[in-house]
Amino acid sequence: MSIPVLKAVFPVGGLGTRFLPATKAIPKEMLPVVDKPLIQYAVEEAYAAGIRQMIFITGRHKRAIGDHFDAAFELEYELERGNKNDLLRVVHAIKPDDMDCIFIRQPRPLGLGHAVLCAASVVGDSPFAVLLADDLMLGREQHQGGATVLQQMVQAYAQRPGMVLAVQDVPRAETRRYGVVDVHGVNDTMAEVFGMVEKPLPDAAPSTLAVAGRYILTPGVFDSIRRQPRGAGGEIQLTDGIAALIGTEKVYAFRYDGKRYDCGSKEGYLEATIDLALADPSLRDAVRAHMVKALG
Ligand code: UTP
Repeated sequence: MSIPVLKAVFPVGGLGTRFLPATKAIPKEMLPVVDKPLIQYAVEEAYAAGIRQMIFITGRHKRAIGDHFDAAFELEYELERGNKNDLLRVVHAIKPDDMDCIFIRQPRPLGLGHAVLCAASVVGDSPFAVLLADDLMLGREQHQGGATVLQQMVQAYAQRPGMVLAVQDVPRAETRRYGVVDVHGVNDTMAEVFGMVEKPLPDAAPSTLAVAGRYILTPGVFDSIRRQPRGAGGEIQLTDGIAALIGTEKVYAFRYDGKRYDCGSKEGYLEATIDLALADPSLRDAVRAHMVKALG
C-alpha cells in the first residue's frame, strides 16, 4: 500500500525576471489570471487532490503570498457590514479552515533543487507533491468536475508508488527549455524513467517528453539533492537530484490529461488569461466581441 500524499511544496523563491518590471516588488506567483493569483490556482489544485499542508518556499519580496493566505480582518469586517456575502465567501475560500500554510524562507535563489531542499525538515519522511505555480495546469473538463492534474497524479501514484513526474510532448526545437526524460513506451500514460537531462539541446534530448511543473517525490530526494553539484545555469537542479535516484527508486513519467500554460512567459500568461476569460460566462461575450474588434 502506498503512503498517502498529504503535503505540497510550492517553490516561490524565484526572481521572475521575465516579468520585470511587474515583478520588482510583487511576486510572479501573485500575478492574476482573470481575478485569481497564480499561486491560488496551484493551491486549489493541491487541495482538490486531498492535500491539506501547503509549504511555501519564499524569497525576498514574497510577503504578499503570506498575506494572501492570511485572514484579512478589516476587509472581512467591511464586506460583512455591507452584506456582501458572495465576496465574503470568495475571501474565506482562499484558505479553508482545514488547510495549514507554512512559510519557509529560501535565503538565496540558488535553484529549484535548493528551494525544494529548504522543505526537508517540514516534509520529514513522507512522500510529497511539488507544484510550480507559474505552470498553470488545467485538467481536461476540470471546470465540469474532471480531475485536476495533481489529482490524476495522486491516483497514478496510489497504483504505482514511486516518484511521479508530469510530462507533456513538446516540439524537439524547444527541449532546451525543459527537463527531458528518457523512457521506454513514450506513448504510455505512465512509463518508467531511465534517464533525465535538464535543458538539453534538441540533438541531445533523449525524447520530446518534457517535465511540467508537477511532481510527486519521495523523501529520498532530499539527500540526493544535497549530493548534487551545481547543474545547468549554475543552479542546484531538482532534475539532477531526481535523476541520481533512477535505478535505486522507481521514477515514472505521467502523461497528464489536460493543458499547461507556461505563465512564467508572457505568451503563456496571455494565453491563459484569454482562455480562462473565454471560459467565464460573465466575461465570454465581452471578451469575444473585443477580440473580433481588435483583430478586425
Ligand atoms: P524559473 O526558472 O521560472 O525562474 O523557476 P524564476 O526566477 O521564477 O523566473 P525568471 O526565469 O527569472 O523569469 C521555476 C520555478 O522555480 C522557483 C520559481 O519560483 C519558479 O516557480 N524557484 C526557482 C525557486 O523557488 N527558487 C529558486 O532558486 C529558483
